[in-house]
Amino acid sequence: MHNAAEQPAQCTNMKVTKAIFPVAGLGTRFLPATKAQPKEMLPVVDKPLIQYAVEEAYAAGVREMIFVTGRHKRPIEDHFDMTFELELALEQAGKKELLDVVRSVKPDDMECIYVRQAQALGLGHAVLCAQRLVGQDPFAVLLADDLMVGQPPVLKQMVDQFAEWHASILAVQEVPAEHTRRYGIVAGTPVNDKMMDVSRIVEKPAPEDAPSRLGVAGRYILTPGVFREIANQPRGVGGEIQLTDGIAGLLRREKVFAYRYEGKRYDCGSKEGFLQANVELALAHPELGPGFRDYLRSIDI
Ligand code: UTP
Repeated sequence: MHNAAEQPAQCTNMKVTKAIFPVAGLGTRFLPATKAQPKEMLPVVDKPLIQYAVEEAYAAGVREMIFVTGRHKRPIEDHFDMTFELELALEQAGKKELLDVVRSVKPDDMECIYVRQAQALGLGHAVLCAQRLVGQDPFAVLLADDLMVGQPPVLKQMVDQFAEWHASILAVQEVPAEHTRRYGIVAGTPVNDKMMDVSRIVEKPAPEDAPSRLGVAGRYILTPGVFREIANQPRGVGGEIQLTDGIAGLLRREKVFAYRYEGKRYDCGSKEGFLQANVELALAHPELGPGFRDYLRSIDI
């Protein structure tokens, strides 16, 4: 038996059934596409980014999806709502397969809850907006613009680790030295080949100040103790209330682990990552893949 943390005092259960999807950001890196539509609704092949993240959470056993939304985010609520006219039209036309596609967006046992972040004050602040809905349970945070492809899905890998370690877990990956300014960077002591006991986390450090090259990707499992820590933080990098700073506070009271996930991450908040995701997921698509591969071969690049 390893020396996993005991159940954190403030957790009432140890099952991860709730997830927060912060979707209130401004998406400035993707302008002009995100001027009037949420970046989380940008489609990769045939599904919006947010649906990939929700499906990943569902596959990990999460059933309560909590969206932290802002202005211009109505399309996200509509996407997970029933579309009566569309369903009726598909039913009347006998288009059973398409009807199943539409209905599967929100399985019956999945609940969607929306809370508003009036001002985009930062990721930490967005997470804090969901505090009352989360209560005393451990919860996941998924950033939909990080599209994760893994088998098992990355959040499921983390939920399995949580069941063993009973402590907050951050998904991490090795990042190039010149990219440390894009990530929260962690340092600590390895406990096995996948897990590290985190002793330090710094938001967006310069390469020369980065304590390692392990960058946090957009998947977290957190204990509710983090809310108090976020609330106590002054504004951090970029004048925003940073989730990283809240986690740095949590570290002083509870164990926090970093988990090297198995899978691939596409930074779909950037145009380059979004294009890569589209190409690779189209190539892997069972129906589109073969034709798309032929097309790519045929063009002069
Ligand atoms: P990002 O910094 O990647 O998103 O935040 P952004 O601010 O929308 O995008 P850029 O940098 O201007 O292009 C990561 C996630 O946190 C959410 C975003 O919606 C995104 O999913 N977020 C960020 C909030 O919900 N509220 C905030 O105040 C900030």
